[in-house]
Amino acid sequence: MIGRPRVHHRCTDSTNERAKELAAAGAPDGTLVTADEQTAGRGRQGRSWVAAPGDALLASVVVRGLEPRHALLPLAAAVAVCEASAEVAGVECAIKWPNDVWHGERKLAGILVEGRPREDWAVVGIGVNVSARAFPPELEAIATSLALARGGEPPPRAALLETLLRRLAHQIAAPAESMLAAWRARDALRGREVAWERGSGEAAGVDDSGALLVRTSGGIEALQAGEVHLRAPARAGPA
Ligand code: BTN
Repeated sequence: MIGRPRVHHRCTDSTNERAKELAAAGAPDGTLVTADEQTAGRGRQGRSWVAAPGDALLASVVVRGLEPRHALLPLAAAVAVCEASAEVAGVECAIKWPNDVWHGERKLAGILVEGRPREDWAVVGIGVNVSARAFPPELEAIATSLALARGGEPPPRAALLETLLRRLAHQIAAPAESMLAAWRARDALRGREVAWERGSGEAAGVDDSGALLVRTSGGIEALQAGEVHLRAPARAGPA
C-alpha cells in the first residue's frame, strides 16, 4: 500500500530529503511524504525544482525490498503521472526520456528517484505542476501546469494524489513488459533528433533496461543515464 504512513509538511526544504531521512530510520515500504511548499526542491542532474507555494503536488514515496526490476522505477513513475493526469484531469501527456512528463512540449511534472541499494530502499520524488497559471520568466517557455493544460481550472488535488499513488503502485508491481509498453506509447522523443554530451542522432525508443536508443551515423547507441536535448530542426531555405 503506497501512502501509509503519511507525513505532510506545510513547508519543508525537500520532500525527498524528509523521505530519505525516514527511510534511513527504518520507515516502511509505501511511506509517503507530501508538502504544500518546498524551499529547496531538488531535481535531476543537481538542478533545483521550483514551484510557488501551493501550486504543485509534491510527493516522495519510500520503496523497500529493491529487486532488479526497480531499476525501472523512474520510468514507472512517469507512466503513473501520465495515467493520473489523464484520469483525473483529462490531460494527455508524453514522456521525455527518462522521466520528464510533458504536455504540449512543456514540462508538467518531474521525477527524482534516489536509491540506497545497500540499505535496500529508494525514494521516488514526484513534482506535478497543478494550479500555476503563470511561471517566472526563466520557466515561461518550458513549463506548464494541469490548470493551464485544461484552460485554467486545476483538478482536485486529493483525487490527483490518490490516483497517482494507485497508478504508481500498479506500475511498480506490473510486469516490466506492460509498464514499458505504456511508457513507449507516450515516448515524446521517438523519431526526433536529439543531442547529448557526446553525440547526436535520432531517438529510437527505449530498450528493456530503460536505456534510450539513438540511431547515429555509427549505428545504434544505448544511453543509460544523463541528459538529452531535442535538436532544433534545420531551417529550410538559404542560410
Ligand atoms: C526533475 O525534473 O529534475 C525532477 C524534479 C523532481 C521534483 C520533486 S518535487 C517532490 C520531490 N522532492 C524534491 O526535492 N524533488 C522531488
